Amino acid sequence: MSLFRIVYVSDAVGDAGVGLLPLIDIIGASDRNNRRDHVTGVLMRHDGRFFQAIEGARVDLDRLMGRLRADRRHTNIRILAELVIDQRLFPGWAMAQTDASPGLERLLAEGLDHPSVSASADRIVSEASRSLAAVS
Ligand SMILES: Cc1cc2nc3c(=O)[nH]c(=O)nc-3n(C[C@H](O)[C@H](O)[C@H](O)COP(=O)(O)O)c2cc1C
Repeated sequence: MSLFRIVYVSDAVGDAGVGLLPLIDIIGASDRNNRRDHVTGVLMRHDGRFFQAIEGARVDLDRLMGRLRADRRHTNIRILAELVIDQRLFPGWAMAQTDASPGLERLLAEGLDHPSVSASADRIVSEASRSLAAVS
């Protein structure tokens, strides 16, 4: 069965962009559902934006994207990268949560309308995977 990875950026709405509790709530639901659906990934929040990578089977990612698109805690979901993968970058993480990396801060500051945005997103995700592997 093929595995896919989707990386997106969205705009947080209201409290979801700043508060700790909304983040805990999101991570709680992610952990529960993603374990059930064999979805893994990483979530970062920076400057009122969410950056998330999700990986898993197509059907599970499509269902999750449906829930994400209906979630009013964020809006304006922009897919930065979507690809078939050989193996997961976050095998041990139903949903890891990390601080924004310098690469993500740069990407968000520069804006998303440039041709290398997809390559930058991939690099940010790979770096997050490496730093999580280093601490786990
Ligand atoms: C930025 C963001 C990331 C999210 N990531 C996930 C996720 O990885 N997995 C998930 O199941 N729900 C995630 N959610 C929550 C879903 O949008 C939705 O609220 C949840 O899946 C509903 O689950 P429930 O029916 O078990 O309450 C996320 C929400 C936001 C705002």
